[in-house]
Amino acid sequence: MNMKVSFGGLEMKNPVMTASGTFGNGLEFAPYGDLEKLGGICAKGLSLKPREGNPMPRIAETPCGMLNAIGIQNPGVEYFLTNILPSLKSKDVAVVANLYACDAEEFGELGAILAAEDKIAALEVNVSCPNVKEGGAAFGQDPRQITKVTEAVKKRAGSKPVMVKLSPNVADIVSCARAAVDGGADILSLINTLIGMSVDIRSRRPRIANVVAGLSGPAIKPVALRCVHQVCRAVDVPVVGIGGIASAEDALEFILLGAHAVQVGTANFMRPDFAFSLAGDMEKLLEEIGAKSLEDYRGSLELPL
Ligand SMILES: Cc1cc2nc3c(=O)[nH]c(=O)nc-3n(C[C@H](O)[C@H](O)[C@H](O)COP(=O)(O)O)c2cc1C
Repeated sequence: MNMKVSFGGLEMKNPVMTASGTFGNGLEFAPYGDLEKLGGICAKGLSLKPREGNPMPRIAETPCGMLNAIGIQNPGVEYFLTNILPSLKSKDVAVVANLYACDAEEFGELGAILAAEDKIAALEVNVSCPNVKEGGAAFGQDPRQITKVTEAVKKRAGSKPVMVKLSPNVADIVSCARAAVDGGADILSLINTLIGMSVDIRSRRPRIANVVAGLSGPAIKPVALRCVHQVCRAVDVPVVGIGGIASAEDALEFILLGAHAVQVGTANFMRPDFAFSLAGDMEKLLEEIGAKSLEDYRGSLELPL
């Protein structure tokens, strides 16, 4: 079965990507499998300047997922371009840069720097940063800000596809999706983590120094499926599904709703070899359930009348 996908200006040999922040920059996972088995790698979130991230502890386990408040720790874009990207250049895998900034201008600047790199196949815009200039609300929760940030990146992205990564921490994900499309998004990826919290009854302290953190893993899959379902029906722009994918069946659920590709996040921590076999397993499962092709199966969900 042909597992190649082509959507929104992004071409990949299969629909499996690894989610930003959960797969290092790819090379850390090379001992566990062949990076070229993946369709794409979303690199760790990058900012213009290096960021130390949040204080420790910043990860906690929950019964069906994890909480993290890493705070986009990263060495900055220049370090990434000089010291990390060159090692990925020879790999036949789409490298997607994940962008993080605190205002639209900064997003545009970062987008321009990354778009100039041949090896970068697309830009993924993480709109979950608290927008300091506008008074503290996250970009991702304000449709006007989503449009503004998307426009700023799109304007400077040249021919590179711009993928906007939506937050589920909103009352109406569809208006956020439409806002990104209005700003010129070529692709939407969803979802990022859900805001959560964990406390220790003995020490009487939060388990994460930042107090609140992002929940990911199997617990969030139903929320992610709902968001992807609503967004796929509301906009014409292709969608990449993310959230709790830990099996081929999970991945096909997102494709059934209409997603063109999927990203694997927390599962990389549990089984570092998981993402490498996922496309092959999806192919087998599609054959087993009698699908003619990936293309044919995509979006074929039958809803009650
Ligand atoms: C430790 C950790 C770090 C993350 N860092 C980023 C990041 O830098 N940029 C981003 O857009 N998303 C980041 N995410 C969110 C994931 O890319 C993904 O959207 C989320 O974890 C949901 O997918 P999952 O349930 O498969 O993990 C991070 C998630 C985790 C667990």
